[in-house]
Amino acid sequence: MVAVATRTPLIAGNWKMNLDHLQAVALVQKLDWALRDAKHEKGSVEVAVFPPFTDLRSVQTLLDADRIAFALGAQDLSTHDSGAYTGEISGAFLKKLACTYVIIGHSERREYHDETDEVIAAKVQAALRHGLVPVICVGETLEQLEEFGAAAVPVGQLQVALEGVPADAEIVVAYEPVWAIGTGKVATPEQAQDVCAALRAVIAEKLDADAAGRTRVLYGGSVKSGNIATYMREPDVDGALVGGASLVSDEFAAIVRFQKHVGV
Ligand code: 13P
Repeated sequence: MVAVATRTPLIAGNWKMNLDHLQAVALVQKLDWALRDAKHEKGSVEVAVFPPFTDLRSVQTLLDADRIAFALGAQDLSTHDSGAYTGEISGAFLKKLACTYVIIGHSERREYHDETDEVIAAKVQAALRHGLVPVICVGETLEQLEEFGAAAVPVGQLQVALEGVPADAEIVVAYEPVWAIGTGKVATPEQAQDVCAALRAVIAEKLDADAAGRTRVLYGGSVKSGNIATYMREPDVDGALVGGASLVSDEFAAIVRFQKHVGV
């Protein structure tokens, strides 16, 4: 049995390789204004942005100067802490930039950078060593969906990623079916619920029931203001990892404000 816990919804914008540091500052400002104009209640939903590495310092400075309550995250980190690893970014650097989160195991890293489940598990350990919350992404391709069903592959990926993670660690898990990323195709709310519940069961098995009760499990894949509410009605979906729609301030603000149109 998974313990009942109140989980603050998390709406996270993964900008991927979009926006330079000047465009990043403009987007964060516009998003802040949009939420202030709408009198969005801070604290009811956590907002996090994941800009490219080169934007992080500028965004961090803006969040700090204007007291904007968005959490900051990076899109990847090195398995190593420091040394002769040209081009790599240490979790220590991200922590110094006041990053709270780091995305690990996004399907684009698995596919285009050959990241294996073992590399992803090492990155989870690196994040935890540096006091960062890993946002662990899992999901199946269309072929895997047809061959094994929706839950088997993400469950297997999460089991490896959680190897050696202590029960008291703070983590976030994101279910992103690969076939739904950037395609306009979406998992139905029921499909998302089933897989998110299966992932929560993995957290209970690998960590413990308490961890399963408090850990946020997100859905990602073509999330928009028009469909977010249907996912958020599901008991095991605690938020969204948003790609394309996080690059448009009004659209992302409308996703953050899903409670206004959730209709429950
Ligand atoms: P889209 O929202 O553009 O489908 O991207 C989802 C995603 O990959 C977020 O990490």
